[in-house]
Amino acid sequence: MKEQRRRILYSREEILERVESLGEEISRRHEGDEIVFICVLKGAFMFLADLVRHVRVPHAIDFVRLASYGCGSESSGTVTVTKDIELPLAGRHVIIVEDIIDSGLTLSSLRERIEAQGPASVEICTLIDKRGRRKMPAPADYVGFVMDDGFIVGYGLDFDEQYRYLPDICVIEDL
Ligand code: IMP
Ligand code: MG
Repeated sequence: MKEQRRRILYSREEILERVESLGEEISRRHEGDEIVFICVLKGAFMFLADLVRHVRVPHAIDFVRLASYGCGSESSGTVTVTKDIELPLAGRHVIIVEDIIDSGLTLSSLRERIEAQGPASVEICTLIDKRGRRKMPAPADYVGFVMDDGFIVGYGLDFDEQYRYLPDICVIEDL
């Protein structure tokens, strides 16, 4: 496999600092609540693991896997569920945990799916908000970093299943 040329965009130190303050913000806004975090696989697994260690209100964790990407870097436009949510969400405070919002297609379809269960509230927490290619409105309640365009990898994010393990978030320079 060819190694892509990469440049660090957000260092591991910057990421952990942002994630810690997101955890604190969630804890403040949800004082007295019980939350259910829905982690969108696979990209958000590392973010979720670091985030929940800074959340001080009681919470459950569940996972969903949606496929909207093929093997490249462009969204295919159709979203299918390949691993569904297992916890009941009716009457509960749900926070969707995403790695990155790009076109917004994945999130808007997941949001509809969750709202159909009648939760008390639904919020979105994304590590990265990539605003340059938005096709569907997907306003996030908690945002780690805002970027315009470019393809990034590391800290859970992949290119063709590679580089999820990188501790820093890097831009691929020769896509
Ligand atoms: P959307 O449906 O276009 O918003 O796509 C969201 C999903 O696409 C994310 O959860 C990621 O898995 C993937 N994605 C979008 N942009 C990037 C990127 O720059 N690097 C890695 N994955 C990305
Ligand atoms: Mg992905």
